[in-house]
Amino acid sequence: MPMNAEEPLTLVPDESRPSVGVDDGQKSAGASRFNPKFTDAVIAATGPKANKRLAQVMPSLLRHLHDFARENEITVDEWMAAVNMVNEAGRMSDEKRNEGQLLQDILGMETLVDEITYTLANEAQDQPTATAILGPFWRHGAPKRNLGDSIIDADQGGDKTHMHGTVTDFTTNKPIANAEIDVWHTAPNGLYEQQDPSQPDMNLRGRFYTDSQGRYDFICLRPTSYPIPNDGPAGKLLGLLDRHPMRPAHIHFIISADGYKPVVTQIFDRKDKHISDDTVFAVKDSLVVDFKPLEGDPRANFELPYDFKLASFEEARKSGMKGATAVAP
Ligand SMILES: [Fe+2]
Repeated sequence: MPMNAEEPLTLVPDESRPSVGVDDGQKSAGASRFNPKFTDAVIAATGPKANKRLAQVMPSLLRHLHDFARENEITVDEWMAAVNMVNEAGRMSDEKRNEGQLLQDILGMETLVDEITYTLANEAQDQPTATAILGPFWRHGAPKRNLGDSIIDADQGGDKTHMHGTVTDFTTNKPIANAEIDVWHTAPNGLYEQQDPSQPDMNLRGRFYTDSQGRYDFICLRPTSYPIPNDGPAGKLLGLLDRHPMRPAHIHFIISADGYKPVVTQIFDRKDKHISDDTVFAVKDSLVVDFKPLEGDPRANFELPYDFKLASFEEARKSGMKGATAVAP
């Protein structure tokens, strides 16, 4: 029976069909049953005035996509289940919920394209701060706050943390004044403020600006691990794949400064039990940090020193770093 938009995503394994893995040697057996000219015909439909980048990448995408369908003998019902999943993600998405990005995240795609975009930076010996995915919960226009301020607008428990450090040029080690640190994380209940009516607007978000010595500090929470929203297609897909929805405790950042390549990143609590099995595959060793117990500060019971290192656009171009260098002034 064909699936429609109201039906849940269900996939019924067909025991009569062989499992067609990459290494089982049956790849070409399935493919040979189908019209061998079909994919070439679809690729050839692209016109001479096509967008250049699309004209470059679409033949590859179409070949992989069609080969995937042929190799696995995808049926109409299975394909429609995927179409419905994408449609459902679209219906759920708005300015506060990005289900499409969440679906991509659990498939590792955001982490992969992040790695591709910044590979050369990560391979450099002396490195700028490593990147990690933006994720679907960043909000434009977080409140500007003064150095030393807290981003906790509503105290709902949790361990207060004094985070401090510097922003410097990774090649010269010179401090970068007036660098913007855009920071956000969840409340102790594991929810970002836009997911949670009990939190004030823009709670646990803020933008800070380094002083003339490149220094910053603020009060935040020691973050908690949380499940990504699992009431939509991403959650259903995780269930079908027998996967958990947890992310290890982390704090998000975008660090930017005039003349420097912005860094989108996250730092992760080494003690978190999900540090090795992040459901969106974002953890990198250099971004794992230790929260230190702090005494004598009435504002915080943990301390987190962390220095950010940025690459200038000029340096980024010289070392072949890709990504945001294209928009360099
Ligand atoms: Fe997050």
